[in-house]
Amino acid sequence: MAGFVLKNATIATMAGGVPAYGLIENAAMVAEDGKIVWVGADADLPAHLQSLPQEDLEGRLVTPALIDCHTHIVAGGNRAREFEMRLEGASYEEIARAGGGIVSTVRATRQADEDTLLASALARVDHLIAEGVSTVEIKSGYGLDMETELRMLSTARAIATQRDIRVRTSFLGAHAVPAEYKDQPDAYIDEVCIPALEAAHAQGLADAVDGFCEGIAFTPAQIERVFVKARALGLPVKLHAEQLSNLGGAVLAARYDALSADHLEYLDEAGVVAMKDAGCVAVMLPGAFYTLRETQMPPIDLFRKHHVPMAVATDCNPGSSPVTSLLLSMNMACTLFRMTPEEALAGATREAAWALGLPDSGTIETGKLAELAVWNVAHPAELSYRIGYNPLARRIVGDLS
Ligand code: NIG
Ligand code: FE
Repeated sequence: MAGFVLKNATIATMAGGVPAYGLIENAAMVAEDGKIVWVGADADLPAHLQSLPQEDLEGRLVTPALIDCHTHIVAGGNRAREFEMRLEGASYEEIARAGGGIVSTVRATRQADEDTLLASALARVDHLIAEGVSTVEIKSGYGLDMETELRMLSTARAIATQRDIRVRTSFLGAHAVPAEYKDQPDAYIDEVCIPALEAAHAQGLADAVDGFCEGIAFTPAQIERVFVKARALGLPVKLHAEQLSNLGGAVLAARYDALSADHLEYLDEAGVVAMKDAGCVAVMLPGAFYTLRETQMPPIDLFRKHHVPMAVATDCNPGSSPVTSLLLSMNMACTLFRMTPEEALAGATREAAWALGLPDSGTIETGKLAELAVWNVAHPAELSYRIGYNPLARRIVGDLS
């Protein structure tokens, strides 16, 4: 793999600290063999690197490529009818308890073969790539039987063979109780979820293990049994926690050294402190907050006070967040959650990398992977400011092409 120089750029390194955004004006950077080897002022570009192919960016902004660290982008069908029902007054929980919600996507996903799942997921993935996304996390959790959970994960793996994007998979067997195990969640965990997790691990299909800890899903005790198995298999965990109520999911996740706890609208300060102590990232999902017309804000000020890193993701799924734009999610994080544009961009780069356990990604620093987005904007705040506008000039993953 060759090297290259980008010069005459504005670089938001997102390295943390000051200046804001890690901003370097009149900047250059050099990549070799897929890695960043030098970043600094144009004027300081070392002589021995000047023979590499150069591209003049004419002042454009360069950021780390974006990372969408929480999606359910592989799924069958859609739930536009439930959108109508919610507009007629039904709540997300009422629809779920009446056999709709996640379970209705389970029916559609079980009926879809891998080609069908792949085609519909690729259409959504292409939207993310067009916005400069280099890495996407994809969960199972709409199969809830051995065969379909594995099919979802192998579809997710297939995406990385069809497109130039890195995929990280999360096994989410503990997402909902399927109809055939109605009122028997413990039997479902023992007879389906844990055997499917073992099979997914044996086939190399799971990079992490997720769950949904909620009144309409699983109790902390049930989730803990899945986490015990994940730990035995050497897989990191994460958790949908405190989305609709506070069951102590984030505290449980922290006890298992979770990479992240996600949603968190109903989290309290004790949960925030537990996350801090465990180095657990708080993943903000404003698309779900918006779609469900939630009014309880996640505790942003407490995350700031206790220095818990905040990531931002689309939560792309057919029910609670039919969103395929990470830029829009960043805008929503600012407008709905009052995150700053700098926090939102860090949330879709540096903190998202941590939420996936990818320390080589998410910032523009020497030694990190050359995963970059070049934007037709002058200042990084514009990325969160605009609504429904995509200013990507180009995405660079590894090499210029
Ligand atoms: O992250 N909260 C649980 N899981 C998804 C919702 C999935 C669905 O409604 O289909 C979420 O929002
Ligand atoms: Fe989710």
